[in-house]
Amino acid sequence: MLEQYKLPKYWKQFYSWLYGSKAWSTFFNKSWVQTVVTLGNNKRLSQAVLREIRPFDQVLQIGVTFGNLMEETADKIGRYGQYDIMDVSMTQLNMAKQKYQYIFPQMNFIHQNGADTIQKPLYGYDVVVCYLLLHEVPPQTKVKIINNALHAIKENGKVVFVDYHRPDYYHPLRYMVKMFNRLWQPFAEKLWDLDIADYCKTRIQYNWRTNLFFGKMYQKTVVTKRAPDILEEF
Ligand SMILES: C[S@@+](CC[C@H](N)C(=O)[O-])C[C@H]1O[C@@H](n2cnc3c(N)ncnc32)[C@H](O)[C@@H]1O
Repeated sequence: MLEQYKLPKYWKQFYSWLYGSKAWSTFFNKSWVQTVVTLGNNKRLSQAVLREIRPFDQVLQIGVTFGNLMEETADKIGRYGQYDIMDVSMTQLNMAKQKYQYIFPQMNFIHQNGADTIQKPLYGYDVVVCYLLLHEVPPQTKVKIINNALHAIKENGKVVFVDYHRPDYYHPLRYMVKMFNRLWQPFAEKLWDLDIADYCKTRIQYNWRTNLFFGKMYQKTVVTKRAPDILEEF
């Protein structure tokens, strides 16, 4: 039943060779490979996520990640927090489960598409993390994932997006990355054209704080709910 869960078309077409393969996933999990793939930014980007998380937090991460981010997040939350990891791929979830389930009891594994309605804890999550996920998905899926993530947080919770951003015009790697994206990651360039907030119909109800890294190649966008009185008419 679980194995038959419907995988999205974009996943099957562009990413099944990687996320559906244990061998390739093991290779990409190596820290030197992550350093190459993120152009040396993996530590900086994962530290940027960890700065947004506190001990005892209830955290949802949409999409399993390579490298050390998941164990560092679990360590930071501690065993009295809650760390739900959601993925549309059973292969990725099983690999994460095998690696971590006996070490981190705070981890739960959820087999679900982040674009489908997300069940949240009673008051919602303190933090929802989308780490290098949005650039992999088509625009309509971006819209759904962003809105689902925003609906899943507590009143004072936040969503943390780490992803690509339009690099500086004179960035030496601009055209290399552009070419790579056109060949392998057809939906990534959409994050050069639009801000993450542009995919959210109710963007006015939230505060959007963006930090840029590596000549603006990467972004961390943190979204929190705006105080209701700011929205009221006088
Ligand atoms: C979060 S991204 C991260 C990839 C990145 N290269 C890294 O540093 O690990 C990849 C994961 O997201 C998952 N994924 C893709 N689309 C998804 C969706 N709509 N809902 C949930 N998980 C999704 C994939 O199966 C994969 O395991």
